[in-house]
Amino acid sequence: MSKLALEGGTPVRPKLLPYGRQTVDEADIAAVAEVLRGDWLTTGPKVAELETAWADRVGAGHAVAVSSGTAALHAAAFAAGVGPGDEVIVTAMTFAASANCVLYQGGTPVFADVQPDTLNIDPAAVEAAITPQTRAIVAVDYGGQPADLDELHAIANHYGLIVIEDAAHAVGATYRGRPVGAISPLSTFSLHPVKHVTTGEGGMITTADGPLAERLRWFRNHGITTDHRQRAEKGGWYYEMVALGYNYRLPDINCALGLSQLHKLDGWLARRRAIAAQYNQAFAGLPAVRPLATRPDREPAWHIYPVLLGLDRLWADRAQVFAALRAENIGVNVHYIPVYWHPYYAQLGYPRGLCPVAEGAYERLITLPLFPAMTDQDVAEVIAAVHKVVEAYAA
Ligand SMILES: Cc1ncc(COP(=O)(O)O)c(C=O)c1O
Repeated sequence: MSKLALEGGTPVRPKLLPYGRQTVDEADIAAVAEVLRGDWLTTGPKVAELETAWADRVGAGHAVAVSSGTAALHAAAFAAGVGPGDEVIVTAMTFAASANCVLYQGGTPVFADVQPDTLNIDPAAVEAAITPQTRAIVAVDYGGQPADLDELHAIANHYGLIVIEDAAHAVGATYRGRPVGAISPLSTFSLHPVKHVTTGEGGMITTADGPLAERLRWFRNHGITTDHRQRAEKGGWYYEMVALGYNYRLPDINCALGLSQLHKLDGWLARRRAIAAQYNQAFAGLPAVRPLATRPDREPAWHIYPVLLGLDRLWADRAQVFAALRAENIGVNVHYIPVYWHPYYAQLGYPRGLCPVAEGAYERLITLPLFPAMTDQDVAEVIAAVHKVVEAYAA
């Protein structure tokens, strides 16, 4: 057995492989440069072009571009009518932004536990958390695998709630043959560089509902019902602010990058899926490394590749495995710390122990690198490093 890099051995690779990374080519750069030479740096034609292309790609009636995935969630919470006194059920296993959007609107996040094998929100836990104050459900498609959307929508319809699908990980995923983005009343996306398609920073909300789309458009523009260009076209100056909105606009510079990137999504999805399949196969015979389950009725988009460590098979804990893999120059990460474990939520009064499945999973979670530009050698080195570390720590 070769000596771990953590203990002075030679690392599996000489340079750190990040867990995720954007792919930007010359066509992307040229698309951005063209906007920089033009008249509209923001609130120009590229915004609508990206929105139309996104709506077409995911089969949604409307897409509204905003400045981040977090802004998309905030806009969705606003459009869903979340306000003071409302409870919103949120998965515990997510990035804080999925719950923060509820706080931004003055509502109260209520955390629901996840399924142990997919780490997606558990519909039974959602139903158990419903009270007369519940208004909405925020379901994350964890890692890019759609949540149990039909079950969640059935619960939402029964109790008169609205589902906000946080699809930050899941553009290009399908659920029972339907594309993510065309299923829930509101689906939100992130266009951060580690995501499938990037605009630098950016976000998108999709909906089939025209009035909801209109509320989203106001919200990203201070709550004003017309934008600068619409007024210029009419030759007028008058505008009305009808709601408390924000400046969450996504500039044309960013939209041009997103448009250029979106054409490449299918190829990137294919590469992500191929890498995930290689990992699944490589770890199938390794009891200390347990890939997440994928349900046969959905095709994940594989934003990240988290595994659950079989700590019963190791004499090391997650922190040691993490440090050992980093020393091998594998840029592992952890997705996620249960949201209510963060100090901000703890001081709001959320106790530990609320969602035992998510908490137990967190202690065993580790995310391996996955992005389309990874070479076959990168993939082989990740697999080799995992084997090396797991064998060194085998119980
Ligand atoms: C599940 C989830 N929701 C929301 C966000 C927020 O997106 P952004 O970083 O674009 O604001 C992220 C980003 O990491 C995420 O992973």
